[in-house]
Amino acid sequence: MSEPLLRVSNLKKHFPVLGGLLSREVGQVYAVDGVSFAVDRGETLGLVGESGCGKSTTGRCVLRLIEPTSGEIVFDGQSVTGLGGGDLRAMRRNMQLVFQDPFASLNPRMTVGAILGEPFIIHNLVTSASEREDRVASLLVKVGLKAEHMQRYPHEFSGGQRQRIAIARALAVEPKLIICDEPVSALDVSIRSQILNLLRDLQDRLKLAYIFVSHDLAVVKHIADRVAVMNLGTIVETADAQALFAAPRHPYSRALLSAIPVPKPRAKRSRIVLEGELPSALNPPSGCRFHTRCPYVIARCRSEVPPLREDGTGYATACHRTGELPGAEAIVPSDGGFSPTLEKLVAAFNTAEASGRTGVIS
Ligand SMILES: Nc1ncnc2c1ncn2[C@@H]1O[C@H](COP(=O)(O)OP(=O)(O)O)[C@@H](O)[C@H]1O
Ligand code: SF4
Ligand SMILES: [Mg+2]
Repeated sequence: MSEPLLRVSNLKKHFPVLGGLLSREVGQVYAVDGVSFAVDRGETLGLVGESGCGKSTTGRCVLRLIEPTSGEIVFDGQSVTGLGGGDLRAMRRNMQLVFQDPFASLNPRMTVGAILGEPFIIHNLVTSASEREDRVASLLVKVGLKAEHMQRYPHEFSGGQRQRIAIARALAVEPKLIICDEPVSALDVSIRSQILNLLRDLQDRLKLAYIFVSHDLAVVKHIADRVAVMNLGTIVETADAQALFAAPRHPYSRALLSAIPVPKPRAKRSRIVLEGELPSALNPPSGCRFHTRCPYVIARCRSEVPPLREDGTGYATACHRTGELPGAEAIVPSDGGFSPTLEKLVAAFNTAEASGRTGVIS
């Protein structure tokens, strides 16, 4: 098998927490804590999980926008972790980022022409102003805008158009991989599918690979080829997107996927309040990080970290009890309701999500 475009091995990013009068380090946020995954050429890997589970930190470490604490990142056969200066800049040409908020990522004082022309100057890709203008015009057309839009400023565009501009800027340097961090989360629902379709269309035409970071599973289902599910700085499950959405194996994935609105939600769900420790990336639970919320927990889960293990059918799952758990059909019965076990799990998930306490430090 050929080497993947990107291979990330045991990536960690721990942020120091400072406290007291002397601002001494009093702890660490285990934002990303031993994450491994690969992305093939032309593929979309969806990275999903609740807010604060470490998705953005993972993306930023891959791009070296923040320094990983440890781990290895190999892109196109070359180690990214050791690169500096010009080598890092050259590498970044091949890996680009599109943010959630296009307004914040576009300089309001620059025309769209200047914004899109910048990468050509930084990377020395054009020899004259007229060549630059031609390249900018063709970029605008590529993302569904018009060449004359280069005269305008970001505030003259709608949210969806601004995201098209941000995508055009990422494309300017002809990257092989774009990390899309919640790229449609700030957009109106009616605009989202247009941007998702644009990303898909560009992927087909330009053979791009994406890491598509999102807390919105409906969006990931629409765009991803493969999915990695994150919980508190670790990946708990990876699988082909179709398989994962049809039959998630890990208890956390099951709860997460079941939290997608269902046609007949049961009122009972919201009344269940689970006891137990609130999980946080500042002080993650021992053993399996999901054990404080998992209805299948046994003694071993509290002490032993479950490794992410491939099962030979395309799933890799980090759970001591994967083989013993009921099948997906027992979890989501055909009437659209949930089994009692899953009711409990979903309630735990919704409680933590609603209060914003999952993995987020204040
Ligand atoms: N610069 C930082 N300093 C300290 N903690 C951080 C920093 N950036 C992120 N975190 C923490 O790391 C965890 C993961 O954050 P993030 O990667 O943004 O999650 P996600 O993108 O999944 O919502 C959170 O607990 C967050 O509060
Ligand atoms: S290892 Fe234990 S606590 Fe963790 S998901 Fe599996 S059964 Fe639940
Ligand atoms: Mg994020």
